[in-house]
Amino acid sequence: MNVIFMGPPGAGKGTQAESIVNEFQIPHISTGDAFRLAMKQETPLGLEAKKYVDQGLLVPDEITIGIVKERLQQPDCVPGFLLDGFPRTISQAEALDEIVQGMGRNIDHVINLSVDRNLLLARLTGRRICRACGATYHILFNPPATENVCDKCSGELYQRSDDTEEKVGTRLDEYMNKTAPLLSYYRDKGNLREVNGEQEINTVTAQISSLLRGQA
Ligand code: AP5
Ligand code: ZN
Repeated sequence: MNVIFMGPPGAGKGTQAESIVNEFQIPHISTGDAFRLAMKQETPLGLEAKKYVDQGLLVPDEITIGIVKERLQQPDCVPGFLLDGFPRTISQAEALDEIVQGMGRNIDHVINLSVDRNLLLARLTGRRICRACGATYHILFNPPATENVCDKCSGELYQRSDDTEEKVGTRLDEYMNKTAPLLSYYRDKGNLREVNGEQEINTVTAQISSLLRGQA
């Protein structure tokens, strides 16, 4: 099963992906995670991506498309994949169509998580991530049992450098200008499904799961 998670920054794409990839046994492909890993390792890609990610701007299409194309050709994508944070522009969506068609496959579901802008701001500025395993928490909405310690692996939690109020504002503007137009692109293709991302985390997971199982 080939799935795309769409939605503005902070809508819950990463949080939901953690459960959905477990349930459906498909790899979680997050372009944001790929850029952050490359930035941490200071690879040429990471150094280039850093110029954009740190400012809350989208990384240029040609760089991003190249990464996804290579990743989708890995053997673990044969049973399917969950794309989180890609595509984010019309050019990326067109390139993805070409890549997927070249593999003789289709995008089965595009899940859009919608959340009000004020709530997105609160979610992103309160988000904390495990340095060791990447699990996502929120200081108020989804706190770990012990402050700053991951429940799953006891790793240390940190705040992303682009989760400050100023950067979040830029990211939301980038979303409105460049990514929101993609919703009609997929609506026209007939595979866009809307989920209210403001509900409890488990409720959102259950609704996505039903949609993917064709039961909703
Ligand atoms: P990326 O890492 O993809 O960031 P994003 O899209 O801004 O999304 P986030 O990870 O911020 O949010 P999310 O929807 O995953 O929310 P989460 O589950 O964490 O991209 C980062 C950067 O990389 C971009 O700015 C760009 O520079 C670059 N980039 C990436 N892809 C690119 C592309 N395709 N093209 C060009 N550039 C690209 O949840 C947020 C918080 O809310 C958490 O604390 C969580 O615990 C909490 N929460 C989640 N769900 C709920 C709920 N239901 N109730 C209460 N709290 C909740
Ligand atoms: Zn952890």
